[in-house]
Amino acid sequence: MEFKNKVKVSPSILSADYAALKGDIEKVKLAGADMLHVDVMDGHFVPNISIGPPVVKSIRKATDMFLDCHLMISNPYDYIDSFAKSGADLIAFHVESNSNVEKTIEKINSAGILPALVVKPKTPAEAVFPYLKDIAMVLVMTVEPGFGGQSFMADMLPKIKAIREEANKVNPSLMIQVDGGIVPQTAKLCIEAGADVLVSGSYIFGAENTTEAVNSLR
Ligand code: DX5
Ligand code: ZN
Repeated sequence: MEFKNKVKVSPSILSADYAALKGDIEKVKLAGADMLHVDVMDGHFVPNISIGPPVVKSIRKATDMFLDCHLMISNPYDYIDSFAKSGADLIAFHVESNSNVEKTIEKINSAGILPALVVKPKTPAEAVFPYLKDIAMVLVMTVEPGFGGQSFMADMLPKIKAIREEANKVNPSLMIQVDGGIVPQTAKLCIEAGADVLVSGSYIFGAENTTEAVNSLR
C-alpha cells in the first residue's frame, strides 16, 4: 500500500458523531486525511465499549478511505475474518491480547489485508521485535487505551525510537503509528522519534477548520 504523504494522518472516529458519521468521514477525507482510524473496544480488554463489524461494514459502503482498524479486544484472532469481510484494510491488534501473535498475523495475511501490532504504554518495545519483519505497522499507544481526549505520555518517545531503529534493520518500510493525545506539539516529537502515522481524535474532530488541523499535525 502506497500513501501520498510521508507523514500520514489517521483521524480517530471515536471523537466523531456516530449518528452523523458519513458527513464526518467526508469532512476528514476532504481535509486530506490519509486513512481512517476505527477504534474497536469490547468492554473487557479496555473498560469502554465502542463499535463492531456491522459499523465497519457500513463505513466501508460510505467511503473509499483506507480503514485502519484498532482492535482493543481480548480475543482478536476470533474476529479477524469478520472485520476483514466487513472491509478493514489493516487490522492492528494488541500484543497483550489473549490471541497467539503468529497465528493472528497469519490469519490477517490470509484475509488479504495488512497486519499490525499494538503496544500499551507499560509494554516494552522489545515485545514486538520478533514480529517486525512480518507486519506492516506498529502502533505505539501514547495513552492508556480506552478513551479519547487523554494527555500524551512523553515517556513513550524512547519506545518509538527503539522500534524505529530495530525496524530499520529488519523491515525499513514498517510504519510506526502513534495514538493518544496527538496535537501539533506532540506530533512533532513523535515524528522526530520516528513515527510516520499520526492518529488523532479529539484534536481533529474538535477543530473549527479540519484541513488546518490535519495539516498542522504533519
Ligand atoms: C484510545 C483510542 C484512540 C483515541 C485517541 O484508546 O485508541 O484512537 O480515539 O483520541 P485522542 O486523539 O483524543 O487522544
Ligand atoms: Zn486507537
